[in-house]
Amino acid sequence: MVNVDQFSNVLLVGFMASGKSAVGQELATLLGWDFSDMDAVIEERYGLPINLLFEKKGQGYFRRIESEVSLDLVSLSSTVLATGGGWALSDQNWKSVPSATFTVWLKVTPEGAFNRAKSDGSVRPLLNGIDSMESLSVLLESRSEWYSRAQCSVDSETGNPNDIAQGIVHLMEKRNSLVESQPGS
Ligand code: S3P
Repeated sequence: MVNVDQFSNVLLVGFMASGKSAVGQELATLLGWDFSDMDAVIEERYGLPINLLFEKKGQGYFRRIESEVSLDLVSLSSTVLATGGGWALSDQNWKSVPSATFTVWLKVTPEGAFNRAKSDGSVRPLLNGIDSMESLSVLLESRSEWYSRAQCSVDSETGNPNDIAQGIVHLMEKRNSLVESQPGS
């Protein structure tokens, strides 16, 4: 029996194609929780695929609605939430995350992200202008500081989503027992 009762939900952050959705779904199954994908909720709510929202309304608009949708989703309980790769680049988004949320950075190398992005079939507007591995590395590097605000990080380059999700459950259990053993908890 998994004991993670100190946590109300999980938030996954990380670069494009780092496996947030696939790992998130596995994690939700392991915990017996719901899964929510922020990009999918945005697409449903605004009736357009993310790439068309970028194209028709611009990135600034997308970031605004991403923050709005995020405000609704971060307060759900017993939910694993997969963010889009740019969600973490906002102080305001991080500040809205409730303290009982377990936050995880799924780490990939630029090569890993590139290969997965090529094979998973999603259209990613921010990869359109990327013409070399070097520029992808620069983009990832510039975002790493934001992703590192998560409480912990896991390597999501290797291993299947289920193995990675199991690793996250172990981290949650460890943290959970640490919190439980603190006086006054
Ligand atoms: C973005 C990542 C995408 C999506 C949008 C912007 C980003 O999500 O939210 O295209 O800024 O990194 P994934 O991380 O699921 O690709």
